[in-house]
Amino acid sequence: MKRIAVLTSGGDAPGMNAAIRAVVRTGVAQGWEVLGVRHGYAGLARGEMAPLGARDVGGILQLGGTVLGSARCPEFRTELGRRRALQALRGKGVEALVVIGGNGSQAGAYELLRLGFPVVGVASTIDNDLVGSDVTIGVDTALNVALESIDRLKTTASSHGRAFLVEVMGRDCGYLALMAGIAGGAEAVVIPEVDTEPEAVAQELRWAYDRGKSHALVVVAEGAKLNAARLADYFHQHEKRLGFELRVTILGHVQRGGAPGAFDRLLATRLGAGAVDALARGENGVLVGWVRGEVTTTPLAAVVGRQKALDPELLKLAGLLAR
Ligand code: F6P
Repeated sequence: MKRIAVLTSGGDAPGMNAAIRAVVRTGVAQGWEVLGVRHGYAGLARGEMAPLGARDVGGILQLGGTVLGSARCPEFRTELGRRRALQALRGKGVEALVVIGGNGSQAGAYELLRLGFPVVGVASTIDNDLVGSDVTIGVDTALNVALESIDRLKTTASSHGRAFLVEVMGRDCGYLALMAGIAGGAEAVVIPEVDTEPEAVAQELRWAYDRGKSHALVVVAEGAKLNAARLADYFHQHEKRLGFELRVTILGHVQRGGAPGAFDRLLATRLGAGAVDALARGENGVLVGWVRGEVTTTPLAAVVGRQKALDPELLKLAGLLAR
């Protein structure tokens, strides 16, 4: 192997830069040239890549976002888009591609693999929905951002005796909401994996006041069937009967921005280095993830098109703790 390329794709995640840095520096240590691809698959199809040396990735470890840029790329879902990418890679003499990203990005990587190009994925998404990694790059930082907001909201909620609905990201996965609910001490959590009726959530919050709490909080995953808008509507319609008022906070992209915490820097560094290690021992077509405290590889074929299930024990715990 003489030359590899690395890209970041899909929604950015705090820690992506640490992963890029690790791929570049461990790749260079192998004696390879490492090209950085700009703007994810969109840039790849346009051939936007340039060599990155160890010094070029200095000072990025602590930065949020991705210095390579990222993109959602509908063109890459077409055969033509993928062929263009392949042409660009082969044209530059690239022998393997490292894809740092989440589900959609790993699906793209798998398509390149199916066209015969060696790829290695690195598990990176704040959604933590990837099969093949207990935890993905960015989750811990995003969760801490959500928790800081929840802690702040609780103080103002208490002053006014109000209830708060906090919507967190996660696409179709309830992981962030469930964890933010447990670690933030929410009275209720609404997630895509569990069907709930608005009245059941309303009763959870009402019950908190009946037990003497000065506020009540529900964390709602953006992908829940009973979404924030529907739930807030219901609360507003039934405000008199329920006996408390509700305010809504949608955290949105604030969860994805900002500097990665220690956990994400270390995880990203280990997974980025793990991608290079995998290539060095001749392995490809795999996702590099973190399973039971170790860097592991899982075939992309077993990762793509699936969503990691939530731990039922944690679901149970969330219910028990909201007393
Ligand atoms: O996959 C990460 C994520 O932040 C999801 O939680 C969210 O649904 C989506 O990306 C938002 O995408 P975009 O940044 O393209 O609006």
